[in-house]
Amino acid sequence: MRTAPHDLPSGLASLGDHERYAREVLDDPTWAYLFGAAADELTHGRNIEAWRELELIPRVLRPLAGGHTRIELLGRERPHPILVAPMAFHRLAHPDGELATALAAAALGAGLVVSTQASCRLEDVAGTFLPGEDRGPLWFQLYLQPDRAFTRDLVQRAEAAGYEALVLTVDAPVQGARDRERRAGFRLPAGVRAVNLDGLRSPPPATLPAAQSALFDDLLLHAPTWDDVSWLRSVTRLPVLLKGVLHADDARLAIEHGIAGLIVSNHGGRTLDTAITTAAALPALVETVQGRVPLLVDGGIRRGSDVLKAMALGASAVLVGRPVLHGLANAGAQGVAHVLRLLRDELEIAMALTGCRTLADAGKVPMATRARKNQDFFNFS
Ligand SMILES: Cc1cc2nc3c(=O)[nH]c(=O)nc-3n(C[C@H](O)[C@H](O)[C@H](O)COP(=O)(O)O)c2cc1C
Repeated sequence: MRTAPHDLPSGLASLGDHERYAREVLDDPTWAYLFGAAADELTHGRNIEAWRELELIPRVLRPLAGGHTRIELLGRERPHPILVAPMAFHRLAHPDGELATALAAAALGAGLVVSTQASCRLEDVAGTFLPGEDRGPLWFQLYLQPDRAFTRDLVQRAEAAGYEALVLTVDAPVQGARDRERRAGFRLPAGVRAVNLDGLRSPPPATLPAAQSALFDDLLLHAPTWDDVSWLRSVTRLPVLLKGVLHADDARLAIEHGIAGLIVSNHGGRTLDTAITTAAALPALVETVQGRVPLLVDGGIRRGSDVLKAMALGASAVLVGRPVLHGLANAGAQGVAHVLRLLRDELEIAMALTGCRTLADAGKVPMATRARKNQDFFNFS
């Protein structure tokens, strides 16, 4: 855990620079928790690689004056399509935790999705974020708790605090096998906890005959199902998005269940290792959803050009995870602001250099894969 805030170090010019610097300032167990992934960490690495593998084919001499990054999301115009992904325990990276992240995201017009496992009170985070002018969306990420009365109270707190949507994470009924974390012996330090879950009582453990599975016959007895999605919709007036959808049939089911949006995500490779990369999964989901609800994507976005590629494939917006925590570890709110600024600036540069004036035109940006270079693989126009 970081103990003191720092000024923004000089010489950081990219999200990669922030990552390298953060590696030096954080201790091994904290690094393992914040930046590790599941098992062999293949999906995490491949997420990043999958965006890099896509190649943009620039168009030239197109009119670019008056271009912008504005988008519409859930009925409101936003300055750009970058949101901070929900992540637990920001106070591991910096003592100001989610409050610093919220300050920076609001100032930079980025959206913010606050985790159920945030280390600051959801009301305080909203209070820091909401006054921002020309700000992005503020959403609350929900892990459904076995205690449904507690979950309903949590939802009501989020509504009262001004959150604009709920993001139900559905790809983690159980934690992935986090080998790196176990090797490093990570434990939450005193003073960092999921404060919004204070008072939550765990269900009593089932008494199992030795041959039974502690996972299937105990923990997963309370795992959410599609019925719980309907339940959640019945107890909130907020739009509900699902996070962690990778299969087209699940996208169809989600729409049948009245979901307001989908986040194509593999949890940054922290749950099922060797799950499909999000860049690879996105096109089939875009095809299935056909614009009926917004489709966001996260996992491995490290450059503004990655944001453009996601939008070119049909995403409505993107979420960024670990790089935000790198910035936070490096320089608190200033560091997060720097990371978000770099991404947005790079997005504008990538748009200008591909001849893309607005993101409404992103679908026309031609791309190839490195394997099938210069063929009209996606949207050659
Ligand atoms: C330290 C950490 C904590 C996370 N906590 C949550 C969480 O509480 N809820 C959730 O839905 N996703 C969580 N995620 C996943 C992110 O929301 C997101 O899907 C992922 O980080 C995106 O990949 P990226 O880090 O490569 O950008 C977490 C990710 C990290 C790195």
